[in-house]
Amino acid sequence: MIIGNKIRLCEKRLADALNDYIWQTDPELVQLDAAQRLTTTFSRYLSNYARELRYSPSTRRPFAVETLDGKHIGNCVYYGVDETKGEAELGIIIGNRDYWDKGYGGDVVATLVSYIFRQTNLNRIYLKTLDRNTRAQKCFQKCGFTPYGHMVRDGFNFVLMEIHRKQWQEHQTKI
Ligand SMILES: CC(C)(COP(=O)(O)OP(=O)(O)OC[C@H]1O[C@@H](n2cnc3c(N)ncnc32)[C@H](O)[C@@H]1OP(=O)(O)O)[C@@H](O)C(=O)NCCC(=O)NCCS
Repeated sequence: MIIGNKIRLCEKRLADALNDYIWQTDPELVQLDAAQRLTTTFSRYLSNYARELRYSPSTRRPFAVETLDGKHIGNCVYYGVDETKGEAELGIIIGNRDYWDKGYGGDVVATLVSYIFRQTNLNRIYLKTLDRNTRAQKCFQKCGFTPYGHMVRDGFNFVLMEIHRKQWQEHQTKI
């Protein structure tokens, strides 16, 4: 378990499946994430979920985001770990709307980035978010991410953002 100021990052477990299913079938959340809305039944989702928990690849580290008193409010992940290039991609969702705009997302990102730079040899973390998702961009900027380009995929416009280990170290001295 990784402890932040407002949240803790925990190993994923089967008990997270129901919230994850709700969030992945929520039209607004799916749109904000430029993802496909799930159409599968919960029982089929659950059996795939159990399999993925058992066989998680080493290039992907998912976490449940919990409040410090143990409420599951979202998820985050780093994935596409490339040891040769020294980089990985970061993803986050705060699925529970009651926790938006209260600094939880920022604390998740800061805590995960800090964990990655302290516990691995990776030197760069990058992400993409929809260009109209200004809340997400603000959240990432607060944590030291800077934009480095744009990308269009499947008709969606994304802003690309990154943080290098050196920038992160400099950002640490400012906060
Ligand atoms: C994006 C997300 C992770 C951010 O988490 P969060 O807990 O809401 O973020 P924080 O409160 O730490 O930071 C959000 C910041 O954006 C600001 N903000 C809110 N709405 C905004 C808007 N429309 N435009 C610009 N900034 C906005 C908030 O005031 C806050 O800034 P502040 O801390 O200076 O006050 C979360 O809201 C979320 O998962 N949303 C739904 C799914 C989603 O967007 N997925 C895509 C993620 S790439």
